[in-house]
Amino acid sequence: MPESPIRKLVPFAEKAYKANKKVYHLNIGQPDIKSPKIALDAVSNNTLSILAYSRSEGSQEYRDKIAAYYKKNDILVKANDIIVTTGGSEALLFAMGTIADQGDEIIIPEPFYANYNGFAISSGVKIVPVISKIEDNFALPPISEFEKLITPKTKAILICNPGNPTGYLYSKEEIQKLAAIVIKHDLFLVADEVYREFTYDGLEHYSILQEESLAENGIIIDSVSKRYSMCGARIGCLVSKNKQVISTSLKFAQARLSPPTFAQIASEAALETPQSYFDEVIVEYKDRRNTLIKHLKEIPGVKVGVPKGAFYCIVELPIKNSDDFAQWLLEDFDLNGETIMVAPAAGFYSSPGVGLNQIRIAYVLKKEDLIRAVEILQMALKQYRD
Ligand SMILES: Cc1ncc(COP(=O)(O)O)c(C=O)c1O
Repeated sequence: MPESPIRKLVPFAEKAYKANKKVYHLNIGQPDIKSPKIALDAVSNNTLSILAYSRSEGSQEYRDKIAAYYKKNDILVKANDIIVTTGGSEALLFAMGTIADQGDEIIIPEPFYANYNGFAISSGVKIVPVISKIEDNFALPPISEFEKLITPKTKAILICNPGNPTGYLYSKEEIQKLAAIVIKHDLFLVADEVYREFTYDGLEHYSILQEESLAENGIIIDSVSKRYSMCGARIGCLVSKNKQVISTSLKFAQARLSPPTFAQIASEAALETPQSYFDEVIVEYKDRRNTLIKHLKEIPGVKVGVPKGAFYCIVELPIKNSDDFAQWLLEDFDLNGETIMVAPAAGFYSSPGVGLNQIRIAYVLKKEDLIRAVEILQMALKQYRD
């Protein structure tokens, strides 16, 4: 199993705290935005006398409401097309277990969410990367690149839309192109849409299940973690109109008994969150993105694309080894008692040796903190020697 590049430096961060350094956490997508009160209240005010298991696929009430949420987003699915999971993480594991046998292959545009590596290894699945580049702002590689990689073992293409770590947002046309190849080669298109609401510059998210042709071939991975800033609830879901996918995923769900009961109560209530909450949050993230990118671009030798969604960006630095740099930032560097924690980007690739001069930054901090964090990065780059 690979370590998570997002979490592996935690012991060094703890050392930094012990040395009384303030650490700005740019490494993890843990938003500082408050969870909706309505969700927290639903747990505080509940009168359960037994904290029982729920149904393996999640409670009927919650799945009915999730289906209504999707309808509002032009995704027409029913409660029976949904399996509630312990975070999007478990939905990814169920999806891989459901569609692939040991040794099967899944094509994923790279860089990708680092834990796909861990889920693939747990499921005995081989990731076949298709490279997207910072120079192209991580646009989808030409479809011919995907087709070249398809073998008899290929079971799916997995995309993250909007993308972590790139912030890339797939256009409707790109989704339609992907739909055409998965249908042509009888594959699944798995779309991790946990950041669906977070799109900027007036761009709209287009879900794979808005595409009617993908009814049999599409699987959505979803989560409440980022949508409602409820990462600790550990609730997500797997959605597919393919009955066989749902019945097989349900067997995985039965083996782990049920998703957490309190967290389903909170997540069900969170669905009542008014649109104004998202409007405010999106303005805030967009502002943070603009601030971060502007200040990063001012540092000599730094390259960064402009994320169109989610709240991450890949940043190329004038260094050779970002693993070493990230550890050095915590162990050996501070600017007036302050430093930053970043995620080295090599772990977001499966191709060896790629991304070594890149880091991923999550813009989940207040603007003032982001500005300070970039100042610290700039000073650190001046002092650091590879
Ligand atoms: C793209 C993506 N997918 C899935 C997850 C898993 O989230 P969770 O298990 O908290 O729902 C994350 C978490 O950061 C993510 O960024």
